[in-house]
Amino acid sequence: MTARFPNLRLRRLRRHPGIRRLVGEERVTVSDLILPMFVRPGRGERRPVESMPGVDQVSPDVLAEDVAAARELGLGGVILFGVPLVKDAHGSDALSEHGIVAEALRTARPVAGQMPLITDLCFCEYTDHGHCGPLVERGGRSDVDNDATLELLGRQAVVHARAGADVIAPSGMMDGMVAAIRRALDDAQFDHLPILSYAAKYASAFYGPFRDAADSAPQSGDRRGYQMDYRASAAEALREVELDLDEGADMIMVKPALAYLDIVHRVAESFPGVPLAAYNVSGEYSMVKAAAAAGWLDERAVVMESLAAIRRAGANIVVTYWAKDVARWLSEG
Ligand code: PBG
Repeated sequence: MTARFPNLRLRRLRRHPGIRRLVGEERVTVSDLILPMFVRPGRGERRPVESMPGVDQVSPDVLAEDVAAARELGLGGVILFGVPLVKDAHGSDALSEHGIVAEALRTARPVAGQMPLITDLCFCEYTDHGHCGPLVERGGRSDVDNDATLELLGRQAVVHARAGADVIAPSGMMDGMVAAIRRALDDAQFDHLPILSYAAKYASAFYGPFRDAADSAPQSGDRRGYQMDYRASAAEALREVELDLDEGADMIMVKPALAYLDIVHRVAESFPGVPLAAYNVSGEYSMVKAAAAAGWLDERAVVMESLAAIRRAGANIVVTYWAKDVARWLSEG
């Protein structure tokens, strides 16, 4: 027999701030947060990304300062995105030991301490057409060549590993990408490096501002031929995750976060024990920034509430452009 009103009054535990805190579940911690960073060639460069206030493209020397600051704040990690000056059909910069991410890793490595340096592994920032791998004509349609991309992803992963990456995070949604990267890393004696796979990544309009930050908008078409359709069944997301785990993914990611909390929840329930990340993407960031700038939302309150929701849905790790702010807010109490 359960108590009923008036014996039961749920408001009793809500009146007192200390009791709310006592019975509440504190979910957001700095060590679970990953900060995305954008690196471009040059020296002493810090270029603000217009659509993402507070986010900059920086040169490797400035990146090293930012990485040191992230480490001091106790962040769980940073994920690096390269913005090369020269792009071509195959994304050669991503395959070179002197490419922008390789340079950035070598510069940041000495100041990162124990904080993991994660690299986003994809070609959209490096190709002149802005797609996630080389294109091929098939049945009158231009499409990313899946299997040719796999070989290139393997090479890119080894370049990142040699330059000092701690975790490789493939985001291109190619079939077989995790297996190909795992094999390439193992063959190059990097069998100890974990893979964080963007396993369930949707073709999302919420990536809009990122394409400005990473200069990676497709020059024609879109990414619906490889990223998931938002109308797909939730079961398809579970299949994607299962496949990636079979291929050797150590951690998985769902992306975006807020419009896909049901997917985060299902993945967490279906694959207990597998570290699960959710990516609180650029559009989710810019919407709040814009509303806060207009005085329509309290940025800090909205961010803390959203991050708690992402964690409650089941994500262990959150990739967020607010990681440094949250670290400061948490230490202020
Ligand atoms: C690269 C990549 C993208 C994002 C992360 N990795 C862009 C895309 O797939 O179009 C988006 C991140 C964000 O919006 O914050 N493939």
